[in-house]
Amino acid sequence: MKIVTAVAPVNIAVIKYWGKRDETLILPINDSISCTLATDFMCAKTTIMASPTFTDNKFWLNNEEVDFNNKRLNNCLTEVKKRASPKCADLLNWKIHICSENNFPTAAGLASSAAGYACLVSTLAALYEVEGDISSIARRGSGSACRSIHGGFVWWQKGVQPGGEDSVAVQIAPASHWPEMRMIILVVSDDQKKYSSTSGMKTSVETSELLKYRSEMVVPKRVKEMVEAIKTRNFENFARITMQDSNQFHAVCLDTYPPCFYMNDVSRSVVELVHSYNKYKGATKVAYTCDAGPNVCLYLLEESIDEVVTLINDVFPSSVGPSEYFRGLPVNIK
Ligand code: DP6
Repeated sequence: MKIVTAVAPVNIAVIKYWGKRDETLILPINDSISCTLATDFMCAKTTIMASPTFTDNKFWLNNEEVDFNNKRLNNCLTEVKKRASPKCADLLNWKIHICSENNFPTAAGLASSAAGYACLVSTLAALYEVEGDISSIARRGSGSACRSIHGGFVWWQKGVQPGGEDSVAVQIAPASHWPEMRMIILVVSDDQKKYSSTSGMKTSVETSELLKYRSEMVVPKRVKEMVEAIKTRNFENFARITMQDSNQFHAVCLDTYPPCFYMNDVSRSVVELVHSYNKYKGATKVAYTCDAGPNVCLYLLEESIDEVVTLINDVFPSSVGPSEYFRGLPVNIK
């Protein structure tokens, strides 16, 4: 019998991945960049047990048994097994039981699939003693999951090879490179999202001309600027590009036919609040970004945390404000 456990945190994109050029291999149409949260909050935890006495593969997600016969799960398992260490030859024939849980709402636009698949693949890789890059395997579970394999500031390079061998995530810098960087996740709603990212981006690729323009003409330039902003710790540029990219991603969602609406009135009021705050400060002190749901992630530096949290609690009086603010702590503003 062998048991392994791993954790993987959520990552929040500052340059969004939206659109695949290959649905099976999960190859994106553009590069993306994200920051991975610290492991204390919003992470997935997976334990896998392999035993010669198990008769079936089984999978529990958040304490409920789910069908093991899931294409993405099996793609990850097959890829990991292909790269198993020769030492694990016996283990390859044993059945496995997987137990995975998230400590935050699943499928509410809070990047749960990213943490979930990054964690699953890290645990499988530990079980079968896989060496080398595993981001391209995590990518087969959920595209954005490849970025949660690394900590800090991460760049998913779309790659050019048809088999996706070079579509991997690389670390631009560890979190310690910019230790003042903070995130606040504003939980506007923890309902399950209306349109999944997978189906939303498929419809965008099929119908949005703006997405074609974005992936070919805008993102390559933005990625260069963002890497530079991260390397030189230029918050003004980091924040501006983050907000512009979030806005363009949601513009693509509107340009999709039929359109996908992810942000709601509360998300939009946070956007307005951030712009008013930055104007009042005379500098870009906070950036917002929204994924495929109404929740808003704020990026800011440590020096701004107290003032911004006070402001949010004033403007959204129902906020549940914790007494201490850490990197990536969720704040409820429902
Ligand atoms: C808006 O990685 O969930 O969060 O590859 O189909 O599983 P699949 O999609 P997924 O899409 C994430 C989209 C996003 C932007 C991002 O994280 O870059």
